[in-house]
Amino acid sequence: MKKTNFLDLGNQPFANNYLTKKNLFKKEKKYRLKVCFDSLTKLVSIEKIFSSKLMFNNTYPYRSSMSKTMIKSFKELSKLIDKKFKPKKILEIGSNDGAFIKNFKKNKTIGVEPCANVEKITKKLNYNTYPEYWSKKLSRKLFKKFGEVDVIYSANTISHIKNLDEVFKGINLILSEKGILILEDPSLLECLKRNTYDQFYNEHIYVFSTIGLENVLKKYNLKIFKIDKLDIHGGSNRYFIKRKSNPKKIHKSVAQQRKAEISYGLKNYKTYKKFASRVKRSRKMLKNIFKKLKNKNKTIIGYGATAKSTTILNYCNINNKTIDFFLDTTIDKQNKYTPGTKIPILKYLGIDRNKIDYIFLGAWNFKNEIFKKEKKFIKNGGKFIIHTPYPKII
Ligand code: SAH
Ligand code: TMP
Repeated sequence: MKKTNFLDLGNQPFANNYLTKKNLFKKEKKYRLKVCFDSLTKLVSIEKIFSSKLMFNNTYPYRSSMSKTMIKSFKELSKLIDKKFKPKKILEIGSNDGAFIKNFKKNKTIGVEPCANVEKITKKLNYNTYPEYWSKKLSRKLFKKFGEVDVIYSANTISHIKNLDEVFKGINLILSEKGILILEDPSLLECLKRNTYDQFYNEHIYVFSTIGLENVLKKYNLKIFKIDKLDIHGGSNRYFIKRKSNPKKIHKSVAQQRKAEISYGLKNYKTYKKFASRVKRSRKMLKNIFKKLKNKNKTIIGYGATAKSTTILNYCNINNKTIDFFLDTTIDKQNKYTPGTKIPILKYLGIDRNKIDYIFLGAWNFKNEIFKKEKKFIKNGGKFIIHTPYPKII
């Protein structure tokens, strides 16, 4: 294995570790966030990896259902799955609050979600959900109880798990011979193109490219047969995967994506070093924007206290002196403070243009949804600050 780091995002707190008033002045646990490229496997991952139990436990604040974009995307995918693959049983790894499985009949789905505080939302509705980490052991247990499954779906989750061997061996134990595995994760190519360095934080162990993922999958005799490019989370890929023995034809989208990644240079370390210089430039530009606005005494707030924005705020040293507060619809984040930068997070109750001039868009990945919601603020001359593809005011 030849891993070399190419990007240093400084000392960072845990991205989802929102502070309560009580622990606001306690010393926060921090780690050095560096990102590496493995020239053999072509995988991009963070250097320091923490145990799942530290990050995914019964205080996990993230709820997939907080975004209409996600709800809509999951709904459309469920329809497609029913139509194309007609599965009898579907398993979801990382089912969170059930935003995906709720589109199916209760007896048709199995959800695996280790954060019991979120898992219980679906449990209460009588869905078969398990508050456990995905593993071979759990897969065997589910196989004994339910038999094989014909579709496994996992969105924005596999990239959070260090031990990919355990993940795919577990999948191979329960997926039927003709079964389909659907993985969906942010695309490394889009991350580099859009300079979204905030895709990197303690929970996002990997940001996958197709070439990197293919290198992993081949060890388990799994093969990507189609790729859908999605706009979700700043550009994601939805990989449709089959067993190697399944004669299903390979769609041209796979070769197209592979080619796009190779010609962009995703196989070369040099490409990642260039990205790192763009990230440094991005930090300089963003800091300048805030500085200029503050010099003019403008009021700036944040919208969407995302895990991603933890990386940006800490890397660019933007704190509660610059941003007055964040608004967020997630109950578990409200009345807390952003990790490291201690910006208060308030309940979203609309925006008063008379009091607010600029909004830093932490949830830039839901820009369209948010701009639609905040039509009035925009119409009245309110402005947003966004960092991708480069820092600017819009
Ligand atoms: N699939 C949802 C949630 C993504 S957030 C969506 O796309 O919106 C990532 C989820 O992965 C969290 O709910 C987290 O608890 C879960 N997760 C993390 N490690 C896991 C593991 N080892 N096995 C199963 N789920 C895991
Ligand atoms: P994510 O980028 O990690 O998916 O998180 C999005 C965050 O943004 C989540 O905390 C909810 C918040 N949010 C709002 O506050 N208002 C909105 O309209 C949307 C779409 C998200």
